[in-house]
Amino acid sequence: MEKKLDVIGEIKKASKSVTTGIDEKDIEYWVEIYIMGKGYKVPAALTVMQAMEYAGYRFTRACGCRAGFCGACSTIYRMKGEYKLLTCMACQTRVEDGMFLVQIPFAPADKPSYDLDKESADPSIFLKYFPEIARCVSCNTCTKACPQDLEVMDYIQSALRGDFKAVAEESFDCIQCGLCAMRCPAEIVHYNVAQLGRRVYGKFLNPPEKSVEARVKEIEEGKFNKDRDNFLKVSEKEMRKLYAERVREAD
Ligand code: SF4
Ligand code: SF4
Ligand code: FES
Repeated sequence: MEKKLDVIGEIKKASKSVTTGIDEKDIEYWVEIYIMGKGYKVPAALTVMQAMEYAGYRFTRACGCRAGFCGACSTIYRMKGEYKLLTCMACQTRVEDGMFLVQIPFAPADKPSYDLDKESADPSIFLKYFPEIARCVSCNTCTKACPQDLEVMDYIQSALRGDFKAVAEESFDCIQCGLCAMRCPAEIVHYNVAQLGRRVYGKFLNPPEKSVEARVKEIEEGKFNKDRDNFLKVSEKEMRKLYAERVREAD
């Protein structure tokens, strides 16, 4: 029997667009998905993002890093016949039969301005800029919506207690996708609250990192200027070689 294309293997190699290069006869398993209400048959094992591209959509928004870091590909979906509204990142989620998908490339949310140089690590800063956090009803919907599996409700509660360290640590892996805020009945914009917490913690409470200070000093003294000037002259091919051969820091 003719060997089928190892789609999963190919995908594991790189989260690239698969709009070309896949021949229908090489696909063993198919699923049916719905994009903005229209049905498409797509190869199983693709990510939601790849499946949408396979279906003919071209992303001009709602796609950035393709690797789970940028938070651009927020997606909501329902499974056929089910009521529950689910969330995912399109570049990180395998497509499933019966998904009704909608992209959310931007989450409209208010963001207060503040000048950290005029602030301090005063715990009341959270309620000063985000008074709505006092309305949290502890429904945990934000946590369930988070594709990063963060304890979102917990970091909002930490903000209410004025615990900057806890907010910073509990929200550290937030990718600002906006899915929590879209589901919150108290109209809280969680990721902006968390960002304020991390900023205050970083500026006023976290002890300076000695190795970073040493590196900044080296840069200011021009230690890397010659390397930088050389990098600007080399071709892309040479740059790739230099990158591959670079000395890596120990973990
Ligand atoms: S969704 Fe909103 S109200 Fe519900 S727990 Fe999260 S922050 Fe609180
Ligand atoms: S906390 Fe909110 S914005 Fe951050 S990753 Fe989770 S759902 Fe996205
Ligand atoms: S494209 Fe960046 S997280 Fe999905």
